[in-house]
This record gives sequence, structure tokens and C-alpha cells, in this order.
Amino acid sequence: ARVDKAGHKHFMAKEIAEQPQVIGDAISHYFGSGTDLHLPGDGIDFNGISRMILVACGTAYYACLTAKYWIEKLAGIPVEVDVASEFRYREPPVGEDAIALFVSQSGETADTLAALRYCAGKARTILSVVNVPESSIARESDLALPILAGTEIGVASTKAFSCQLTVLLIVALEAARQRGRLDADRQAEIVTALRGLPARLNLALDTEAITERLSQELAEAQDVLFLGRGQMYPLALEGALKLKEISYIHAEAYASGELKHGPIALIDQNVPVVVMAPRDPLFDKTVSNMQEVMARGGKVLLISDKAGIEAAGDGIWRSIEMPVVEDLLCPILYAIPAQLLAYHTAVAKGTDVDQPRNLAKSVTVE
Ligand code: G6P
Repeated sequence: ARVDKAGHKHFMAKEIAEQPQVIGDAISHYFGSGTDLHLPGDGIDFNGISRMILVACGTAYYACLTAKYWIEKLAGIPVEVDVASEFRYREPPVGEDAIALFVSQSGETADTLAALRYCAGKARTILSVVNVPESSIARESDLALPILAGTEIGVASTKAFSCQLTVLLIVALEAARQRGRLDADRQAEIVTALRGLPARLNLALDTEAITERLSQELAEAQDVLFLGRGQMYPLALEGALKLKEISYIHAEAYASGELKHGPIALIDQNVPVVVMAPRDPLFDKTVSNMQEVMARGGKVLLISDKAGIEAAGDGIWRSIEMPVVEDLLCPILYAIPAQLLAYHTAVAKGTDVDQPRNLAKSVTVE
């Protein structure tokens, strides 16, 4: 069926707005109405492996980086993550002790497909997380898990990213359950939080008017820095990628704790610093990083929950308030302000949001 913009100015805006719906669809697909997971086929055996290898390109790579935090923390399986173009030429050892997992919206990215073929016959299982079930990557996997995002037209990935995260979190939960690291109560608690996620995503979308206003100011910047810690670090990377892809503003992301090892030299009143930091156990450390920025005249745009924004104090330049969610779900929720910020900054700059220069939706050549 032909996909139209459904009243939105751009496909990207439509796809951002669709996230509560499509993520809800993915959650129902994998959990039905209960709290037990329904994986297709024979499922995946996470016992008897000693590591997982996650490979992808672009935004899908950042989804993999987030999944590393979840899989290691929940399931206790060591995870290696690499961009497909590096992985395959490194000729890394891959054996029967590994599950190799490939993440791709299109399922046709040449480097990711080549990395999959490199692992085929070596790894115990080839898994993929894809949006297009008939794609080459899906067909060549032992098991392809659909993300159910629906057709994504905007070149800058939005709903595919958050649906990839959702499915990768489900993979981490399943691995944890099989390895005896997730009791039924905790599983039920997380599944309940997941079911409540679409409503929280709608609250996050309600910040659009504020974000649009902030974006007028962000559009003046030459450079923007993104900071995040722990599972929010890959999201900082994704926020910076989105901004540079569509607004052409130079943006870089760092793990908050790395600030003092280099990027702090860039800070002055002209460089906005976007900090993605829910009030989690790492929050106090991030506050000291923000203070380092503010002490040098830097402008902090804090994306956090109410408690986080209050704890950060008066020195911050701007803030965007997110609802509170289960810690594990923060990367999915905070994807929304990251996307809205990039989108409205690009609109303020008048760029071609859905077809940014030099980029292709799917890169099927090396
Ligand atoms: C291209 C797109 C990116 C995307 C990447 C990986 O570079 O512009 O948005 O993240 O390819 O695509 P895939 O289809 O493999 O997820």
C-alpha cells in the first residue's frame, strides 16, 4: 500500500508520532496478553554460549550498543558490538560459543549482510532483528525477529530505532530468563512497564512544542555536544547522529565521564551541550559533569525527569521534562526528544528533512 504523510509535513514527523502505536504493536506481538514471551520457531538457546556478537551500521549500530548494556546486565552474557564494515575486515574469531545478531531496518545493508555471511557456519546461531521480513538478512538468519515498525520512509531512522531497541530488550529479557537471572516477579514488573510504555511515549511527544521552540535556538549553533552515561551513552550518540544527518550541524557525543579527557576543551558559550540523564543511580555523577560544563560558560540542555531537572539546579540553560519510567526503558523513551530536537532544528534550518543530502535510506553497496 502507498504510504502517505497522514497530514504531517514530513514522513519523519509522521514516523516519530507513530512510535507509541508501533512499539505497542511490537510488545503485543512478543508478549500476547500475558507476561510470557512468544518467540517464533524453536526460539533461541542462550544457555551454553559464552558470548554474543552484535553487528550493524548507522542507527542500528547504536541500538546494538544499547543492547550491550541490557544483555550484559540482565543476562550476564559478554557482548561484543561492532560496525559491520569494521567487523568483517578484522577477520575476528567466531565460534560455536557465540550467538551472532545482526540489526538492520532494511535487511539489505551490504556490509551487515556480508558480516552475517562471515559468521554463518561459524557461530552457533545467526539471529537478526529486522523491519523487512522478506529481506536478505532475514532470509539468511536462523531466526529473524521482526520489529514491526511498518514502512519507514524518512532517511533518518526514528521508529525503526525505537522498535529495534524494544525487540533487543526483549531478547535480553529472554536470555536472562533462560539463564536463571530473571525471576517471574521481576519479569512481570518489566513487562508491565513495557505495556505502560506507549502512554509514556505519548507524554514524551507532548513536549514537542517546547522542543520546537528550543530548536530555533539550537539551529544557531555551529557545534553541539551530546552527553550520556551508561545505557544513555548510545542514545547520546544517536542524538548527535540524527542532528548531523538532517540539520547538518556538527554534533558529537561522548560518554559523560569522558568529558574531562578532551571534549571539555571545546566548551564555551557557543556550544550547547545536550545531556540525556534520567534520575537514575548514575545521575549524581552526571550532575558533576554538567557543573564542569557550566563553570566554563557552556549551555546545558538537560533532558531528564522532574526530579532530575530539580536536582540539576538553576545553572542549566534549558530543559525538557520526560515522564518517569522503569530505568531499563529510558533509552526507548528518550529517543523521542532526541528525534524531535533534530527534526525541529532541521525544519528551522530549512533542510530537506526526509531526503538529507548525500545520504541513502539503504546502503546496498560497500
Ligand atoms: C543508512 C541509513 C541509516 C541507517 C543505516 C543502516 O546509512 O541512512 O539511517 O541506520 O543505513 O541501515 P539498516 O537498513 O541496515 O538499518
